[in-house]
Amino acid sequence: MASNVSELTTYKAYLGGKWEESSSGQTIAIKSPYLRETIGFVQAVTQEEVDAAIRAAHQAQKKWAALSLNERGAVLDRWADELIKNEKEIAGTVMHEVGKGDRDSRKEVVRTADLIRYTVQEALHMHGESLRGDGFPGGSQKKLGIVEREPLGVVLAISPFNYPVNLAASKIAPALMAGNGVIFKPATQGSISGIKMIEALDKAGLPKGVLSLTTGRGSVIGDYLVEHKGINMISFTGGTNTGRRLSKQSTMIPLVLELGGKDPALVCEDADLDVTVKSIINGAFSYSGQRCTAIKRVIVNEKIADRLVARLKNEVENLSVGSPEEDSTIVPLIDDPSADFVQRLIDDALARNATLIAGNRRRDNLIYPTLLDNVTKDMDVAWIEPFGPVLPVIRVKSDREAVEIANQSEFGLQASIFTQDIDRALAVARQVEAGTVQINGRTERGPDHFPFLGVKASGMGVQGIHNSLLSMSRQKVTVLNLK
Ligand code: NAP
Ligand code: G3H
Repeated sequence: MASNVSELTTYKAYLGGKWEESSSGQTIAIKSPYLRETIGFVQAVTQEEVDAAIRAAHQAQKKWAALSLNERGAVLDRWADELIKNEKEIAGTVMHEVGKGDRDSRKEVVRTADLIRYTVQEALHMHGESLRGDGFPGGSQKKLGIVEREPLGVVLAISPFNYPVNLAASKIAPALMAGNGVIFKPATQGSISGIKMIEALDKAGLPKGVLSLTTGRGSVIGDYLVEHKGINMISFTGGTNTGRRLSKQSTMIPLVLELGGKDPALVCEDADLDVTVKSIINGAFSYSGQRCTAIKRVIVNEKIADRLVARLKNEVENLSVGSPEEDSTIVPLIDDPSADFVQRLIDDALARNATLIAGNRRRDNLIYPTLLDNVTKDMDVAWIEPFGPVLPVIRVKSDREAVEIANQSEFGLQASIFTQDIDRALAVARQVEAGTVQINGRTERGPDHFPFLGVKASGMGVQGIHNSLLSMSRQKVTVLNLK
């Protein structure tokens, strides 16, 4: 990667179908979390440019929606093809920009192409319905209701840094298939990856103006976008605090929020430890724990706790630590403040007598994988999402106590239960407050056609391909009053 600032690319924003420099004359430097140097610049677009992009999207959306589903699907299929053609370059950008391992960055691009193709197929196979009036008391057969779906208008898609391609496309693809225009606001750290992805969509022949990519700090243009009267729906993925802010600011438009989590792994004393340890390690530490669905606490029955902790210790000490270029599991966190935040959680727990089993080492924004035992309810690490490689272990006496602690969290994204007794698993699953409960497996979003949702502070509304198509369109009823 070039380190000479004068040789670095200044990327243009994609506004109304053209690649443009912002009239602000301002750019934002994007620094690689592991190279620790600037890798490029993106435009800081202005409010006037946002206005123009939204106007263009409304104009273009009408023609876009008038195309047949097959025609829209063909554009998206070509987009998927372009992503695969440029897999290496796009994955390289993801790796440099957000520090995700080379293999996982490539997987993200391939998963995105698969998601787009599945979205096309799902949309092609969704049907409306018709109803006769006589199904209701006093109703008549002469009333025939035809229920179809239509687009909402212009969808604002706001994505987080940690899946800069996949989580953006999981909003853009259903929005487009449903016939909407799109304003895409990527995470600033993640913008270059977003730009590469939109270059592919442009090459695939998306009609000009249907989508604009507005780069710029959320703190600067975020509120303006969210409050804009030209936005008809918002699909947001990111932190809970940002999500709360959005839900206060947006008015009278549909809002889907996928937010933070504190996913627990509940380990019963009869758990298969091979499966449990593998799932917890992978679930908690891949990409240094920077996944909304990472396992962020272990709640274990005290009868098996010593054995579990010993096995986890061994695995944690053997995790590869270093660089995304070497596909290390533990890589530098997205920036220094994020590493400071994780370190504060560790320090607080140790000051309150948690037992350090492994880790608590740091080099700049690289936090070594840290395992803490005997974590208690008075410690921040028991409740706060670290978005980093620290795993607290909380010991409990019973399933009841495990569920109680699991549910005391403000979050409710996913949970894992490890037991060999399926009746017990189902009984616990029923009581856990979460969007998804995994039995004998790690918490994770995929496969991408499953519904994906968080409850409580983890979100509002449902994603997953089918549900995203539904939330980005509305029902329209036409009633035939027959003679
Ligand atoms: P974040 O700081 O909340 O940022 C998410 C997005 O919101 C970024 O595009 C950001 O732009 C934008 N933003 C910031 N302030 C805004 C405002 N006032 N109005 C509109 N947009 C605004 O989250 P992150 O650090 O990127 O991602 C980590 C968090 O996301 C974690 O909490 C994680 O659990 C959560 N997450 C949840 C899911 C899920 O599906 N449940 C998936 C992935 C991540 P800037 O980058 O320009 O600030
Ligand atoms: O970071 C949040 C993502 O939705 C997690 O996706 O479970 O496939 O890693 P994943």
